[in-house]
Amino acid sequence: MAKIIDGNKVAGEIRAEISEEVKALAKRGVVPGLAVVLVGDDPASQVYVRMKRKECMEMGMLSVDHTLPKTCTEKKLLALIDELNADARVHGILVQLPLPKQINEGKVLNAISPAKDVDGFHPINVGKMLSGEPGFLPCTPAGCQQLLMRYGYDPAGKHVVVLGRSNIVGKPMAAILMQKAPGANATVTVCHSRTRNLAKYTREADILISAMGVAKFVKASMVRKGVVVIDVGTNRVEDATKKSGYRLVGDVDFDAVSKKAKAITPVPGGVGPMTRVMLLKNTVEAAKRAAGAKKR
Ligand code: GUN
Repeated sequence: MAKIIDGNKVAGEIRAEISEEVKALAKRGVVPGLAVVLVGDDPASQVYVRMKRKECMEMGMLSVDHTLPKTCTEKKLLALIDELNADARVHGILVQLPLPKQINEGKVLNAISPAKDVDGFHPINVGKMLSGEPGFLPCTPAGCQQLLMRYGYDPAGKHVVVLGRSNIVGKPMAAILMQKAPGANATVTVCHSRTRNLAKYTREADILISAMGVAKFVKASMVRKGVVVIDVGTNRVEDATKKSGYRLVGDVDFDAVSKKAKAITPVPGGVGPMTRVMLLKNTVEAAKRAAGAKKR
């Protein structure tokens, strides 16, 4: 049986580190502030946003909440972002994705000040990530990297296979792990919906990171013995025994793959808590940078 990579445990360790930084900032009169903007009423987004806001407050940070109707215009949302860019209490701005169809996602992400872009989605931060300069790393792939490192699975020299090429997970995951930097130095292969004979690649992976969004896509026959598996998938499947009527399953057939893998993340309780804690970490970093800049 594989070792379980416990995201709640690692997120707790990082929260304890962040808490010390928040206390040190408080002594200087700085309270890190995170603005979380939700547009519309997508149930999954509502859950994610509620958890992000709750954890922010538990950490003694300021949570500035904005919920806009799904009919909200692009102009209204851009005006709110301008306001938050100018608000000195707010060090980080997160606009939950996806956005309703009438709103151009690229335009919105471009409007967030790169210094407050704690999601790491602004093209300036994407460029910095690619060229290995300090900026803000997207929270989910940064969280996956932390899980690997803190469990002693250094990706250096390993073949990492990433499933999925989204801007939120797949692309930045590959960019982060191919860097010439501690916690990286991997040989990275990215597979996606148009990859031919995908299992040929997954069977060669030392570390497999799946962000496809397809429930139980990765079967035991697709991995080699001893692989380390990070499952980013959070897929809702109907389950009449649950009060909500559904349960969350990953991209990986956990029961079968965990018999072959060396280590694996569960869903839930793997990557999810890491995404949220990396958001807090980025927000504290943004507050520190803002405070440092003010002093100079
Ligand atoms: N939707 C799914 N994941 C994310 C994320 O990490 N950040 C934002 N803003 N939206 C998301």
